[in-house]
Amino acid sequence: MPVVKVLTEGIGEFDLRDIAVYRERGGYVQWKRALTEMQPADIADITMRSGLRGRGGAGFPTGRKWSFLPNNGRPRYMVCNCDEAEPGTFKDHMLLEETPHQVLEGILLGTYAIGSHHAFIYIRGEFERGYRTFVAAVDAARAAGFVGEKLLGTDYSVEVTVQRGAGAYICGEETALINSIEGRRGEPRLKPPFPAVKGLYGEPTVVNNVETLATLPHLLERGAEWFASVGPERSPGYKIVSVSGHVRTPGNYEVPLGTPLRELLAIAGGPRDGRTIVAVQPGGGSSACLFEEHLDLGYDFDTMAANGTMLGSGAVVFFDDSTNFVEAALALVRFYAHESCGQCTPCREGGHWLEVTLERILNGGGLDSDIDMLVAVSHQMTGLNLCPLGDSIEPFLASVVKRFEAQFRSYVRSPQREAITA
Ligand SMILES: Cc1cc2nc3c(=O)[nH]c(=O)nc-3n(C[C@H](O)[C@H](O)[C@H](O)COP(=O)(O)O)c2cc1C
Ligand code: SF4
Repeated sequence: MPVVKVLTEGIGEFDLRDIAVYRERGGYVQWKRALTEMQPADIADITMRSGLRGRGGAGFPTGRKWSFLPNNGRPRYMVCNCDEAEPGTFKDHMLLEETPHQVLEGILLGTYAIGSHHAFIYIRGEFERGYRTFVAAVDAARAAGFVGEKLLGTDYSVEVTVQRGAGAYICGEETALINSIEGRRGEPRLKPPFPAVKGLYGEPTVVNNVETLATLPHLLERGAEWFASVGPERSPGYKIVSVSGHVRTPGNYEVPLGTPLRELLAIAGGPRDGRTIVAVQPGGGSSACLFEEHLDLGYDFDTMAANGTMLGSGAVVFFDDSTNFVEAALALVRFYAHESCGQCTPCREGGHWLEVTLERILNGGGLDSDIDMLVAVSHQMTGLNLCPLGDSIEPFLASVVKRFEAQFRSYVRSPQREAITA
């Protein structure tokens, strides 16, 4: 089994929330090294050469993202995204709660690498424990001289601001998150300008995921080549995968990218007794399903994309043959309809309309034509919105309607349906 311990090393064995324990295990060594021996460009170079791709959803290469910041002499900001509300994703708050200093060391390294002196972390409102744990970690790091003014006898100063969200999924989208930090309504901005050019308080800003930043101390310790040599060439490194659904031991498992989906299933204990896996949603709520014939595919960014879906933030949900896909579709559609910020008509109206139609189908009042219309409407919603949330319904809905059409049609062949058409 290819389970590895890199970011998850020591979790469950040691109290890594204690700065003394973290330091005994090599913590903050890379931060000290960076401050005293390395230039920001050295860290950016290692990150670029490692091939690290963002772990927040889009899989954009981290080093390249940093390179878009203009050299305009303006202040710049690093924002760590710990909003983590993607259905099925539960890795970031695990890192925050269990190994907050690793997250903080990563944030500090990223902030230094982009030439910034102010980092923000945006923590989902519900993560009360993670919030308290992280604030305590920042306090301990400040007391140890790792955060604050003129660190370790150098001229470098850095401040860390911890900001809590208020429970809106859309605030995980980077520009909505920036608006929320600024005290505005948490709704996405029109892009361009991208945050790299005009982000927080109008200044150049990088938004990176918790797992992305927590990887940085390991890149510095072991080198870009170590990371780049793991997994497929264009999708290298290790990834924490949140595996859930119809498996015996759901949880966060750290594996090399490229691990076959079938192995992820086995790592999570396999299917329940007497059950067979019939579908897998490999990249969070907005990804299309794959099916039994895809279980030998490698789990990496490009393989998932080549097969019409995505890796996203690394949430893998397995569905067995007991699944009612009409109910599953309604649950997801309801989530997206509820979380729409309402700025775009297709997202605001389409999501609600699909929710009402699915409810009607489930209640036996659906028409045959409703099934085709579900797919058509979700398709018409796609590509017409300010942000990807409006495009999030089609992939799952269309993939399960196509594959499990008989389940959907069985509801409209009910007596109620005959009464309607009689
Ligand atoms: C609706 C929506 C929700 C998102 N939620 C999150 C989130 O909770 N955490 C996250 O890191 N990225 C989230 N993203 C992606 C961010 O916009 C951004 O791409 C990411 O934080 C960049 O980090 P990375 O480059 O390290 O992956 C979301 C995007 C969308 C459209
Ligand atoms: S797509 Fe939906 S969530 Fe995104 S900006 Fe438009 S209305 Fe808001």
